[in-house]
Amino acid sequence: MALPELIARALATIGPRLGARPEAAVVLGSGLSGCAEAIELECAIDFADIPGMRASTAPGHLGRLLFGRLAGRQVVCMQGRLHYYEGLQPTEVVFPIQVMRALGAQTLIVTNAAGAINTGFAVGDIMSITDHINLTGGNPLTWGEETGLADCLDMSYCYTPALRDLTNAVAQEQGLALHQGVYLGVRGPNFETPAEIRAFRALGADAVGMSTVLEVIQAVQLGMDVIGLSMITNMGAGITGQRLGGDDVLRASLAAAAKMEGLIIGILHRLG
Ligand code: HPA
Repeated sequence: MALPELIARALATIGPRLGARPEAAVVLGSGLSGCAEAIELECAIDFADIPGMRASTAPGHLGRLLFGRLAGRQVVCMQGRLHYYEGLQPTEVVFPIQVMRALGAQTLIVTNAAGAINTGFAVGDIMSITDHINLTGGNPLTWGEETGLADCLDMSYCYTPALRDLTNAVAQEQGLALHQGVYLGVRGPNFETPAEIRAFRALGADAVGMSTVLEVIQAVQLGMDVIGLSMITNMGAGITGQRLGGDDVLRASLAAAAKMEGLIIGILHRLG
């Protein structure tokens, strides 16, 4: 089915249940679902109940779209996300971004759990993403034949500079030390080898994760303003010598989720 038709079908399911149109979209990554509890909830819809949207299968990802008010703004929030490693096509991974944009969201706040490559980072720190490196091997911009949008897209300012400044100002107000850095996206689902972490450091990356880059490429193509926030849940493979486990990532993310929630709320308050 063609993309415009797929989006129309999704909107036909969501529209009747929706009050106001969302201004901002928030994607909550691994272990960050609790951030959604602050939303004055108007409506929640499982991904699986939206035509064209795949259900979430990743641990710790509920796979729901939440609509409501947060920090005085109308928001749509992905409580959990879809990953390329779940066996989906890149276009399926980013379909929720397409839908949230079509519903009216102009700003995208995308969060993730990430492993630190920069040895100056510590578990529980937050990094504002300044730029990314897409090593997933996938790309969501393959609807070109249908939409005429296959043109080469400028990726010079994916993470909107003015919103990065705003994010830094909010962090400063909150007394939160916020790192700045480059996020490298891999497909996963395995963690990296120590040699890969060393290689990624040489490439200029500060943190690594299995999400975000496909969503951000799609958001940029749709003309959205983007903020990217990584929760550092572990040091990259080989840095401490400790083995890595998915449970540890979730636990570390949960432990520091309140900090991420406070930052997101502060940002939403200040959005113009
Ligand atoms: N590597 C890849 N993805 C991740 C990591 C990691 O170390 N931590 C959380 N997500």
